[in-house]
Amino acid sequence: MAKYNTLDGFDVSGKRVLVRADLNVPMKDGLVTNTTRIDRTVPTLLELADQGARVIVVTHLGRPKGEVKPEFSLGPVAEALAKACKKPVAFARDCVGPEAASVVAAMKDGDIVMLENLRFHPEEEKNDAEFARKLAAHADAYVTDAFSCSHRAHASTEAVARLLPAAAGRLMQAELEALTDALDAPKHPVAAVVGGAKISTKLEVLGNLSKKVDLLIIGGGMANTFLNAKGVDVAKSLCEHDMAEDARKIMAEAADAGCDIVLPVDAVVAKEFAEGAESQTVAIDAVPEGTMILDVGPKSVAELNSLIKGCKTLLWNGPLGAFEIAPFDVGTNAVAQFAARLTEDGKLLSVAGGGDTVAALQRAGVAEKFSYVSTAGGAFLEWLEGKELPGVAVLRAD
Ligand code: 3PG
Ligand code: MG
Repeated sequence: MAKYNTLDGFDVSGKRVLVRADLNVPMKDGLVTNTTRIDRTVPTLLELADQGARVIVVTHLGRPKGEVKPEFSLGPVAEALAKACKKPVAFARDCVGPEAASVVAAMKDGDIVMLENLRFHPEEEKNDAEFARKLAAHADAYVTDAFSCSHRAHASTEAVARLLPAAAGRLMQAELEALTDALDAPKHPVAAVVGGAKISTKLEVLGNLSKKVDLLIIGGGMANTFLNAKGVDVAKSLCEHDMAEDARKIMAEAADAGCDIVLPVDAVVAKEFAEGAESQTVAIDAVPEGTMILDVGPKSVAELNSLIKGCKTLLWNGPLGAFEIAPFDVGTNAVAQFAARLTEDGKLLSVAGGGDTVAALQRAGVAEKFSYVSTAGGAFLEWLEGKELPGVAVLRAD
């Protein structure tokens, strides 16, 4: 594994430390509706504060596109952060300029402050060197916990890290360790579950994973594209008919690399995608005309569980079926719960990530039971694609 600087041996006592967090949290009516990203960065902030650092937290919120927009102000997030840290968090209404400078100047050792939304300045997303210098001027050192935006080469994730001594915070460290254990240096056999609607958005993920894992389990709408490419009639199912050639190429490459692609052997189908819609279970080569595949069937679940049981590592991205609506969540729930039990028994390392994935695991009641669930969506996918992320590259110690 590449070596990254962490907080171990990183001297912060009495220093001003700029912490790039990803507190791009969901909000409704001016209130934070899910504090997961806040809660998971708090240990880093408190560790720094306890060591006598002056902790200056910066983040983006939403996509205000370089303009000051009150609905994207971090004021409410600073309040939620103070609550989570159980200590006051002063707030500056700009991330650069005189107000930010005076809030930082008033800090004492162990204080935590938060600066206003980085994306109120267009220079942030341009990775602008001068803007990075202004951010760096607040601090003596840089720590990042923002794995979930490390696929963005922005001033606060990339350029600034080159101007100050830089280290990964504890959340960033945990993300890097989990992903390394699951993908770069895993215990074999390794299975990857890749689900979701379309293969067109995950071609690079599938290509990279097929070279690294032993079993590639395909679920969700994208399984239909593979089935169709193999000549199976998927009737009215969601399917990218124009991607058949790409699907065949992935299957051929996987075969060359010794990776087994696993597709459903049966399916739950319905005439419409609606809560409680009348559904039936059919063999995968007998999908009735006018119906669509909305979940994997019980035979597929049994097969997947027995395959996963033979593995030491599981990587999960994307649901197996249309999990948002019952009864089409049954397959995803059953396989996720089985993987969670193997994990609890110490037989499986399970790492999951991606927006829909976390929602699906939460719905299955197992998000806490996997070995690691990433806070990242886009960054997790780019890691699965085998890309080096700019916000991670800047932390390399070698
Ligand atoms: C996220 O929530 O995915 C990250 O915070 C990145 O946000 P972005 O997609 O707007 O860059
Ligand atoms: Mg995103």
